[in-house]
Amino acid sequence: MKFIKKDFLWGGATAAVQFEGEYDKDGKSCSILEMMPYMKLEQREVMSLNHSTLSKKNLEKSFENKEGLHYPKRIGSNHYNRYKEDIDLLAEAKMDIYRMSISWGRIYPNGDEAKPNEKGLEFYRNVLTYCKQKGLKVMATLSHYDTPYTIAQKHGGWMNKEVIDMFMKYAKTMFTEFGDLVDYWLPFNEINMAIIFPMISATFPEDYPNVSFDQLRFQTLHNQLVAQAKVVQLGHEMLKKKNMGCMIANMTTYPIDCNPVNVIEWQKFDQQARYFLFDMVAKGEYPTYMIKMFEKLKVKLHTTEEEMNILKNNTVDFLTFSYYMTGVVGETTANKVGGNLLSMGKNPFLKANEWGWQIDPQGLRYTLNDLWDRYHLPLFISENGIGWDEKLNDQKTVEDDYRIDYMKEHFIAINDAVEDGVNVFGYTMWGVIDLVSNSSNEMSKRYGIIYVDYDDYHNGTGDRFKKKSFYWFKKFKETLEL
Ligand code: BG6
Repeated sequence: MKFIKKDFLWGGATAAVQFEGEYDKDGKSCSILEMMPYMKLEQREVMSLNHSTLSKKNLEKSFENKEGLHYPKRIGSNHYNRYKEDIDLLAEAKMDIYRMSISWGRIYPNGDEAKPNEKGLEFYRNVLTYCKQKGLKVMATLSHYDTPYTIAQKHGGWMNKEVIDMFMKYAKTMFTEFGDLVDYWLPFNEINMAIIFPMISATFPEDYPNVSFDQLRFQTLHNQLVAQAKVVQLGHEMLKKKNMGCMIANMTTYPIDCNPVNVIEWQKFDQQARYFLFDMVAKGEYPTYMIKMFEKLKVKLHTTEEEMNILKNNTVDFLTFSYYMTGVVGETTANKVGGNLLSMGKNPFLKANEWGWQIDPQGLRYTLNDLWDRYHLPLFISENGIGWDEKLNDQKTVEDDYRIDYMKEHFIAINDAVEDGVNVFGYTMWGVIDLVSNSSNEMSKRYGIIYVDYDDYHNGTGDRFKKKSFYWFKKFKETLEL
């Protein structure tokens, strides 16, 4: 079959903190994820994002590093020094679009400087100009899990509303410098992270001993949502284009069965874990189900009338989200499997990767239909892919047929959604060139169609090698045949 939408944008996605490396070069400051060491515990288990490891006290040990630990995100895939080679590879695969992120700490290392760091601007100008030369459109994320740690140290993270102004200064610099080089803007990546791990947003509970964790996480999110809406407003004013989005971690789930009691439980989960975020950026107001939940949790958000108006009047032009897997609600804790940001219930009808992420192409068709029906905004899938533990073979490639199957089935699901009448206009596969895993901090969880020769301790050359899926994707792009 042939993919039916001719002007659909196909591409790949990366994030500065997992990909660039050179974490302290040319004036960049350290971000929180660059302070997390790689630690293998047992067989498949590595130290991953969790509440106890994400304390300031724990993270600050990394500055002295007395234990001599390895910090994978400090090296990433060394894209900082290899960006031309990487962009050449995306162009060779016939991609239309590159989703990348800009590191706030390269531009304003402390957040509060009066002037941006020229070296940081120069790096991104080079990257973006080279993308244009190679015919690639660009979707740029301003904050992909890399709030500078200095903002936690000096300002108490995103709990502090002054950080909104610092972020606005950064966004304004980006629109001024790169407004004509970037095609789509996303102020935040997976903005839901603020309520799951507010520490990644530089808000540490130890700085707010008298504030409940629920109050802390929802206030952190609120402040980011205000910043999100203000950036949309500024972008519309400065750039005069309809190219402002926000990226949300989509968590599609199914009820465990058709028992109405379970369906209600599932509906509550769906509202809180999924619709809430889409509602906030697409409709611009707190839904009543969340207001009720805040009452139950004794959360009292500090908001102003002006903020509520900004939220209401500056919604996104398109919706974009990550889609990796689905889960089941109503399953017991014993039947939980791995997942992106949250663990979810096991679905006996689905297979999973080694990290337990359940593979569900049909769920993508369902999700696209669901979001289109609910919001009537153009949709863009900004992350999707499969992590796999891979090694180069003697021919210096990887025979990743499982990834080809994964892509093919998901592309068919997108095609089906288009046939259903959904307006979806693009797709960027996650970690198109292997990079460090966000959650588990390892190189071994590889998503790319291009292999990077580093192991979990960054032994290796860092050289790039095309996997079998690279050639499959290129052929698909040339023929649109699935
Ligand atoms: C998304 C993030 O949550 O999922 C990425 O935006 C991340 O940064 C991706 O890498 C895959 O997750 P992981 O934990 O397997 O790297």
